[in-house]
Amino acid sequence: MDDISNRKFEHIEICLREDVEMHCNTTGFEDVWLVHRCLPEIDVEEIELETDFLGFKLRAPLLISAMTGGHPKAKEINSALAQVVEEMGLAMAVGSQRAALLDESLVDTFAVVRKKAPTAYIIANIGAAQLVGHFDVNDVRKAIDMIEANALNIHLNPAHEFSQMAGDLKFRGVLQAIKRVSEAIEVPVIVKETGCGISREDAIRLVEEGLVKAIDVAGAGGTSWCKVEALRARRRGNGFKADVAEAFAEWGIPTVVSLIEVKSGVDVPVIASGGVRSGVDCAKAIALGADLVGIALPALRAVSHGANALKAYLSVLIEQLRGAMFLTASRSLKDLKRVDVVITGRVKEWLQMRGVDIKEYLRKRRAI
Ligand SMILES: Cc1cc2nc3c(=O)[nH]c(=O)nc-3n(C[C@H](O)[C@H](O)[C@H](O)COP(=O)(O)O)c2cc1C
Repeated sequence: MDDISNRKFEHIEICLREDVEMHCNTTGFEDVWLVHRCLPEIDVEEIELETDFLGFKLRAPLLISAMTGGHPKAKEINSALAQVVEEMGLAMAVGSQRAALLDESLVDTFAVVRKKAPTAYIIANIGAAQLVGHFDVNDVRKAIDMIEANALNIHLNPAHEFSQMAGDLKFRGVLQAIKRVSEAIEVPVIVKETGCGISREDAIRLVEEGLVKAIDVAGAGGTSWCKVEALRARRRGNGFKADVAEAFAEWGIPTVVSLIEVKSGVDVPVIASGGVRSGVDCAKAIALGADLVGIALPALRAVSHGANALKAYLSVLIEQLRGAMFLTASRSLKDLKRVDVVITGRVKEWLQMRGVDIKEYLRKRRAI
């Protein structure tokens, strides 16, 4: 098994055992307040969580974010994730399919997802840096066909690549490569970060020049890939790389800030992810304009105890979301997008510094 496959396994192992989350650069959900309604005038049983994402119906606005594949252990994880996603009517993205494009024996670690989730919304995944010089449109088609994907994630991860031993450091030409792929393939392209967020300026370029159909902000505040790579480098005795990577452990645009920046810049569906840890976080993200909410690390940790543990974890999350909807008098996700929101503290400062008129943003969101 090659280096990429082993690295994938090491990533999972580190994410399961170590503290890989940000602590200083938080998501910003703590600065978002949904105004409580003591007179909701609805019954909990009326609350409807169904949603539509890029023309596909989901039973709840939840995505298991891109994580794995490319190693036998990853097949087991993908199989359980897919089984739960199918049963619960949610969406799921697979991890980078690079390893399987280079080694056919690893294809089934991804293909198992479609076998276990024949009707679910499944997203393929490839790194933007690998589209420059490594893979062409035919490889991307192979990745999509491998899992009969409904959409393609192209991940932008410059901080991760920079922190990684032997990371891919050539990012010149990435936007053109994304455009080439978007023009050639039949499924929509969703560009995502991997935990450092996406700015308004980059979102505008991605949508206008890169023909991207949706954006997953994957902001800062949750899993830190620079932290993961620092831990990996330290384990392998590469003190130089570990010391460099550690400085970026808390790098990035907080998830809430990124969500508002992107949503205020482009008119495409947006997935809020990066450090989403409760159904209340989900409700806040949707109230701020997110169309879907993505979760990676907690899903990995839950599924490491089996499919039932993941199901139990997601059921709690969904019930928390329902609770937040009840307490804001929201019968539907559409209603939730119109509730009163207060933004305080660091998020307010960030947005003011970045020239976002918060009140106008919240007013416009209500008018849609
Ligand atoms: C074990 C693991 C592997 C990951 N692998 C990928 C990947 O291959 N491709 C990708 O786009 N994102 C990958 N991610 C990033 C997640 O999709 C997500 O953007 C990030 O972890 C932030 O979400 P979280 O805070 O909920 O974990 C991975 C995350 C985890 C935890």
